[in-house]
Amino acid sequence: MIFSFCERFVIFLFYDMEEQKKKRGIIVMENIIVKTKALTKHYETGTHTVTALNGVDFEVKEREFVCIIGKSGCGKSTLLHMLGGLDTPTQGTVIVDGMNLSNMNREQLALFRRRKAGFIFQQYNLIPDLTVYDNITFPLELDGARIDREFIRELLQTLHIADKTEMFPSMLSGGEQQRVAIARALAAKPAIILADEPTGNLDTASAHAVIGLLKIVAKKYRQTLIVITHDPDIAQMSDRIVRLQDGKLVKGSDSDVSNESSCGHK
Ligand SMILES: Nc1ncnc2c1ncn2[C@@H]1O[C@H](COP(=O)(O)OP(=O)(O)OP(=O)(O)O)[C@@H](O)[C@H]1O
Ligand SMILES: [Mg+2]
Repeated sequence: MIFSFCERFVIFLFYDMEEQKKKRGIIVMENIIVKTKALTKHYETGTHTVTALNGVDFEVKEREFVCIIGKSGCGKSTLLHMLGGLDTPTQGTVIVDGMNLSNMNREQLALFRRRKAGFIFQQYNLIPDLTVYDNITFPLELDGARIDREFIRELLQTLHIADKTEMFPSMLSGGEQQRVAIARALAAKPAIILADEPTGNLDTASAHAVIGLLKIVAKKYRQTLIVITHDPDIAQMSDRIVRLQDGKLVKGSDSDVSNESSCGHK
C-alpha cells in the first residue's frame, strides 16, 4: 500500500467530515460559493406577468469578484436579491455557502441574510442620528452578536475613515458615506458581499476609489464579491464580468460593457 498509516488516517478524517456535512444538509460545492440552477422569477403585475429571470445557471467561486452588467430592466437586481435571500424564486434553486435558499422559510432567510450576506446599495441607508461607529455596529447589536472592536478598527483604517468614527453621516462626503455603508456590510464578516450599483451616486474618481477599497477589503477578509454596475471601468476591475440580457445570462459576457440603454421587457 502506498499510503502510510498517518496518511490513511488523514484521508479517513477528511472523508468523514464531508459525510457529516452531507448528513447535516450542507451541500458540499468545492470552491463554489454561489450556484443557481434554472433560476426563474416571474412578477405578477395584475394585468400581466413580467419574467425578470428566465432560467439562470450561474456559479461564483469562493473569493471571486464578479461584476454583473446588462441593460436597465434585464434582471440584475432581481438576481442579486435572490442570491441574498431578499426575494424567493418562482422556479429553480439558489445555493449559497452550502445552503439551499429556495427551501428556506422567512425566518431562515432573515437569519441567512444577517449572518452570511453583506448588502451595499446605491443609497447608503445610514441612520442620520447615529455616529459612523454606531451605524456600523448597530446591525450586530440588533442581532445580539459580539462586536469585534479590533476588526472594526482595522476595517475603518483599511477604508480610510478611521478619523470619522464620531461624526454623523451628514458631515461626510458621498464617497465617505458609502465607505461607512461598506464597513457596515462587512462588520458581521459575511461570506458574500452583494452590491447593487454601489457607486451610482458618486463621481468617477470617488466611484473608482470606493470599488478599489471594496476589492481590497474583500480580498483581505477572503470574501466573495458580486457587484452590479453600469460603469465599464468598474466592471474591468473585477475578476469576471457576466452579462444579463432579458433575464438570461449571455455567453461571452466580458466584451463590450459599454453602450447600455434600457431593455424592452417582456
Ligand atoms: N416587484 C416587482 N413587481 C413587478 N415587476 C418587477 C418587480 N421588480 C422588478 N420587476 C421587473 O422585473 C424586471 C427586472 O427588474 P430589475 O430591477 O431586476 O432590473 P435591473 O436589471 O436591476 O434594472 P436597473 O439597471 O434599471 O436597475 C423589470 O422589468 C422590472 O420592471
Ligand atoms: Mg437594478
